[in-house]
Amino acid sequence: MLKRYGMLLLLFATRQITVHAQSNDHYANGMVVCAYPDAAQVGLAILKKGGNAVDAAVAVQFALAVTYPEAGNIGGGGFMVYRSAKGKTNTLDFREKAPFAASANMFLDASGNVIPGMSTGSHQASGVPGSVDGMVEANRKYGRLKWAELVQPAIDLARNGFKITKRLADGLTRGANIFAKANPGKSYFLKEMPWVEGDLLIQEDLAKTLEQIRDKGRKGFYEGTVADQIVEEMKSGSGLISKADLQAYHSVWRKAITGKYKDYKIITMPPPSSGGIALISLLKSVEKYPLHRWGYNQDSTVQLMVEAERRVYADRSKYLGDPDFFKVPVDSLLRDSYILSRMDSFTWDAATPSASIQPGTIVGYESDQTTHYSITDKDGNAVSVTTTLNGSFGSKIFVKGAGFLLNNQMDDFSSKPGVPNMYGLVGGKANSIQPNKRMLSSMTPTIIEKNGRLFMVVGTPGGSTIITSVFQTILNVIEFDQDMQQAVASKRFHHQWLPDNVTVEKGAFSEATQSKLTQKGYKLNNINGIGRVDAILKTSGGYQGGADPRADDTKAGW
Ligand code: DON
Repeated sequence: MLKRYGMLLLLFATRQITVHAQSNDHYANGMVVCAYPDAAQVGLAILKKGGNAVDAAVAVQFALAVTYPEAGNIGGGGFMVYRSAKGKTNTLDFREKAPFAASANMFLDASGNVIPGMSTGSHQASGVPGSVDGMVEANRKYGRLKWAELVQPAIDLARNGFKITKRLADGLTRGANIFAKANPGKSYFLKEMPWVEGDLLIQEDLAKTLEQIRDKGRKGFYEGTVADQIVEEMKSGSGLISKADLQAYHSVWRKAITGKYKDYKIITMPPPSSGGIALISLLKSVEKYPLHRWGYNQDSTVQLMVEAERRVYADRSKYLGDPDFFKVPVDSLLRDSYILSRMDSFTWDAATPSASIQPGTIVGYESDQTTHYSITDKDGNAVSVTTTLNGSFGSKIFVKGAGFLLNNQMDDFSSKPGVPNMYGLVGGKANSIQPNKRMLSSMTPTIIEKNGRLFMVVGTPGGSTIITSVFQTILNVIEFDQDMQQAVASKRFHHQWLPDNVTVEKGAFSEATQSKLTQKGYKLNNINGIGRVDAILKTSGGYQGGADPRADDTKAGW
């Protein structure tokens, strides 16, 4: 009874957020949910002029590169999960690659220690960008509108400027010193007075780069002026990306990873993302338990989910990497019997110490600031894209004259076995640095079907917390009867095996839940925010959006 009461209070609290922050309208003809209001409007305009979900995705990707420079990008990479109205699925891997000149120990000093900051804040921190090739490929395979029409809105936003939100103003002001230091002699994003809400941000260099991309497609970025500018920028800071790296970069269509959870089919990203395999493993680990009866963020619910997360992240550290370089045991990891056996050591009495959990044994196995957008169209096609520069504003280094930021995605490799990266994630051989290899990702763009019909489009940024935020959002809808906006707004928690603590959004747990978990040995670590989920639910009334109230995320439909 008490449990129920606690849940009602929490639901009431999230409903308040829902009512004030975002309306809960349903739309028949399509929806865009993404990180920045102007980019959402660009996507909506494309849908209204007859573009499909992929067209809108391409336009939103470029619009976010202008309006959401923390993570929207042309200098980074990402993943797209696609489901057509008829139920055909596909995924596009436009993840960055290590340059040909990269090597396993490139971030270590002479004594073999990781050099602090080198994999995150230097010219060597950048992988070969994949976003432009990814968008070209997506448009070539599924696009309905012409390429130039999809890039033009971003050019207009860059050239004419757009009014910045308070959050972006604060981000630009806070970053001023770092931008100045990372870009000596250049003045991107710098101005004399602090940025304030409503200021116009004009990016003429970026507009010119986008014009090259509009007019020449792939060649407008990987060859010609922009390629020259990237290579020049690399030379100015001992960076590794060469003309040959740019020419050789190609995104890859990969078969989606699929799995079942009750009546639902999960369609998600395969390696080099760890997200899809981890998400399906998590759902399978908790499927047989009465989560619905226990309720949202109640102690039993949290304990079970945390123990599943601990085990799945331990496996991630050993078995997941770029499938073009490392034999990822996908089938073994996704076998029901294997996933369930991993939960054998779970007991209700106490937290399992992470020190006692190791990656599982796979029979026959040979050792050998991101942003998400969800889009649906009037025909029922759906697109789920997560794209990133990695850290907020990536390496903070602009390509001189080209006006865009480079990623610091090399940090997603394991620089040294067992040494945590910026998200505290550890890895080993599977995710070691090798020339031309893709770094392992946690990005988990996902589409869900129920009884063969589109049900949900979901994803989020958040580094290592991406997988657990997607996991919770799905359970919030399926098990805890929350609508899409509530499910996205609800407070989250996270465990990733190492470090051995539960990261909890302030206010996520009642005092009773906290004390029960603490008594069992769970170390709770309160923080302000986890993830920014942008999602769409298909209901009998139409598309219902969930835009994360933690930031400027916006939903637009028609
Ligand atoms: O691919 C990954 O897993 C990371 N580069 C994602 C980074 C991220 O989500 C940062 N955003 N908060």
